Amino acid sequence: MFNINERLKLVASYVNYKRLADIGSDHAYLPIYLAKNKKINFAIAGEVVDGPHKSSIKNVTDNNLENVVYCRKGSGLEVISLDDNIEVITICGMGGKLISDILESGKDKLINKPQLILQPNVASNLVREKLEKLNYSIIEENIIEEDGHIYEIIVAQYGKMKLTELEKEFGKFLPISKSDVFIKKWTLEIEKINYIISQLKKSNNVDENKILFLENRINIIKKMI
Ligand SMILES: C[S@@+](CC[C@H](N)C(=O)[O-])C[C@H]1O[C@@H](n2cnc3c(N)ncnc32)[C@H](O)[C@@H]1O
Repeated sequence: MFNINERLKLVASYVNYKRLADIGSDHAYLPIYLAKNKKINFAIAGEVVDGPHKSSIKNVTDNNLENVVYCRKGSGLEVISLDDNIEVITICGMGGKLISDILESGKDKLINKPQLILQPNVASNLVREKLEKLNYSIIEENIIEEDGHIYEIIVAQYGKMKLTELEKEFGKFLPISKSDVFIKKWTLEIEKINYIISQLKKSNNVDENKILFLENRINIIKKMI
């Protein structure tokens, strides 16, 4: 049996189309797992760095999936050709800024309107902001904790969406479902901010405005959890 971590399994559970492009595919674990479980019948495993690209090729070959998973070296969505008829793109395990930059610079590859499954490690607000700009609408969100890290998963399909500033930061659906992991993420954030406030208060030149700003942020977070 080919196993992957819980984070990627959760991403895999949202893949409901047969033709996938996994960008930043590292070991190609996600496309291999999906191919072995017959959830996809064609995948591009895109990777910009030589070492991970080679390890993708090795893993695909070891699993006899050369006719299903095609490892292509290149940056972002440039590894996709429109003829590939990609139906779903996954971009996981990167910062939100990098994911949104990849979407922006590759937006000409989105004209077939593939579904997007994005898993930013940090700065998910930038991903939501970019989705709104690219005329993508969030249809599902999830949040998971694994090995001491908390990850958000955002599923989007082509279509208009207008997010509030709070939805960009906290999510469109996450604050509604208010899972334990969501509450944990933002409780930890409050603790971090409280620590910063305590340090600021120790300064000889106390920055009252900064403290007020941070206290206000804590109040906003408390209302969301
Ligand atoms: C931390 S790994 C995550 C691997 C896998 N997607 C996962 O979630 O476990 C991020 C991978 O993205 C690759 N990467 C970074 N920028 C990229 C880009 N512009 N295009 C393609 N791959 C990129 C890195 O080389 C690295 O292998």
